[in-house]
Amino acid sequence: MGNSKTTQHFKKKYQELVEKGETWELLKLMGPTGPRAVVEGKEMIVLASNNYLNLANDPRIKKAAAEAIEKYGFGAGSDWSIAGYTDLQEKLHKKIAEFKGTEAGLAFQTGFAVNSGTIPAVTEKGDVILSEELNHGSIIDGVRLSRADRIVYKHCNPSDLENHLRKIEGKYRNIFIVTDGVFSMEGDIAPMKEIQKLADEYGAVTYVDDAHGEGVLGEGRGIGVHFRIEKRIDFQMGTFSKALGSFGGMLAGDKEVIEYVRNTARTWLLSAAYPPAVTAANIKALEIIMKEPERVKRLWSNREYFKKELDSIGFNTGRSQTPIIPVIVGDTKKVKELAQKLFEEGVFVLPIVFPMVPRGTERIRNQVNADHTKEDLNKALNIYEKTGKKLGII
Ligand SMILES: Cc1ncc(COP(=O)(O)O)c(C=O)c1O
Repeated sequence: MGNSKTTQHFKKKYQELVEKGETWELLKLMGPTGPRAVVEGKEMIVLASNNYLNLANDPRIKKAAAEAIEKYGFGAGSDWSIAGYTDLQEKLHKKIAEFKGTEAGLAFQTGFAVNSGTIPAVTEKGDVILSEELNHGSIIDGVRLSRADRIVYKHCNPSDLENHLRKIEGKYRNIFIVTDGVFSMEGDIAPMKEIQKLADEYGAVTYVDDAHGEGVLGEGRGIGVHFRIEKRIDFQMGTFSKALGSFGGMLAGDKEVIEYVRNTARTWLLSAAYPPAVTAANIKALEIIMKEPERVKRLWSNREYFKKELDSIGFNTGRSQTPIIPVIVGDTKKVKELAQKLFEEGVFVLPIVFPMVPRGTERIRNQVNADHTKEDLNKALNIYEKTGKKLGII
């Protein structure tokens, strides 16, 4: 066991990761997440969470989940495709369609399962996928599992996309353009209007990952509504695990498209339904997000303030256009030191290093929350300034 060849091999591989500073330390929250949270026993300002609208600990969502446990029990007992489907789940599918402004909606086990299952299910040999260079890992895995040819186009660069479309005209049965809506490490927005225009011109299908756009763009409805093209995007993928404060993935589109995916995506068909309590929480989260646009307004007001102040202190916030605001340091050791010092002073952030971002662009990814107070943000900014100066970053 402990001395087997395999164990030795992985000891060495793990040691290599440690030496390069590319391992993840797990920090423990000791209660609910929110604009502030108790992390490793200490009250911190949280700037590292996807909980943009502060819904993760919302009493209405908790109540909906608790009531569902009373009525349905905890476990679903099966896959949705077999014996785990409920009337509650059917209601959620209708709510997803209403939220996204499409004919049909489908809940998935996770957002990762949407991308890694749908892309290989809907693409075949003889098709081609044009994939954005900074797409999320779940898209990359989905594309790798597909039998279609693949081409990677440059980040937020419609003219590079068009060059590829021109070159491949007439060569493939179907062309799929797959992109993140908001890029999770940069915080910039895909030029979706131009991309959709090109897709229409070249007869391509569009697939958008809206994980960081929901609750943030389009009065909370996501990138489709933001650019007023929600009826034209073929596949709108999303997740309940970020602004919606819950768990699970979603897909929205035309009825036949959704029915096809439901009958062919292996991640949907061959994996257990999540508990009905999660379904009830997801329905409630969608209701809240559609009824309370003021949450989104508060998020943007905090985002504008925090980004402006970080810029004026002298940090490099890259191409951020959303509540994801990176502080780009460009050095693994230094970014880890910065994150550690911020943590010691009460700001919960994490260093993002290779392979999450290319070497030389190591960063801290800040994500503001609709319910951060000015006091929270100012405290974090003061600590950033003091620490950034001490480490020679600004
Ligand atoms: C852009 C993007 N897509 C998909 C996912 C996966 O979503 P989930 O957490 O629901 O699996 C994430 C989460 O990290 C993401 O950032």
